[in-house]
Amino acid sequence: MNPRRAVAKAPLLETVSDAAYFFRRFLKHPLQVASVLPSSRFLAAAMFSGLPLADGDLVIEFGPGTGAFTRELLHLRRAGLRLRYLGIERDAGMCQRLSARYPELDFQLGDVRDAPRHVAERNLPQAKAVISGLSLMLMPESVQDEVFAGVTTILAKDGVFRTFSYLNNYPTGAAARLRKRVASSFDHFSISRPVIRNLPPAYVLSGTSPLRCGPSR
Ligand SMILES: C[S@@+](CC[C@H](N)C(=O)[O-])C[C@H]1O[C@@H](n2cnc3c(N)ncnc32)[C@H](O)[C@@H]1O
Repeated sequence: MNPRRAVAKAPLLETVSDAAYFFRRFLKHPLQVASVLPSSRFLAAAMFSGLPLADGDLVIEFGPGTGAFTRELLHLRRAGLRLRYLGIERDAGMCQRLSARYPELDFQLGDVRDAPRHVAERNLPQAKAVISGLSLMLMPESVQDEVFAGVTTILAKDGVFRTFSYLNNYPTGAAARLRKRVASSFDHFSISRPVIRNLPPAYVLSGTSPLRCGPSR
């Protein structure tokens, strides 16, 4: 399957309702939600672009929010790719909403720092991809350390980690540190072209094959 064909478009009503809900959660927990709008389907497509996924592979999503990236995964599943899925979301309202909307998917209410435990409790294999919707850049370095230590544990040795960062933050020290961290945690590192059709425009950071003894462990 060519993942580049998977651009999942949500019905307009769903998009508007998700945006309104997302904004309300942002007002309630600004630091945790860390964005005023959900990601666009164009950013979602870039997050999944070129992933070498096959039947039976496990995809773990960090911070699915209102499901902007989850929808892309469902699109792949509905096209016939039998992917396994675990989404870990800290916001109870969002987690409940996702579970109600996508009962065929497994959502865990909790912190991504506990991802290795949630994977072990479910007896899941190592993941082929970890798709992170977290605003990692805004997290303290110590929290990032824990998140990346978990990622390198739950990913398969040829697994792919994806996250995104907003273009307007590109020159900041925090964004540079995040790029450096992803680059130093994986055997291969790349950055996508800017995704202009997202508010704000963003780019995707991709790391393949975790370095298990890397500097972030
Ligand atoms: C920037 S929003 C992105 C939501 C969605 N992925 C998107 O791109 O539209 C970040 C999401 O991560 C969740 N989140 C933040 N920190 C988290 C953590 N430590 N563990 C699990 N979820 C977290 C937030 O509640 C929020 O839903």
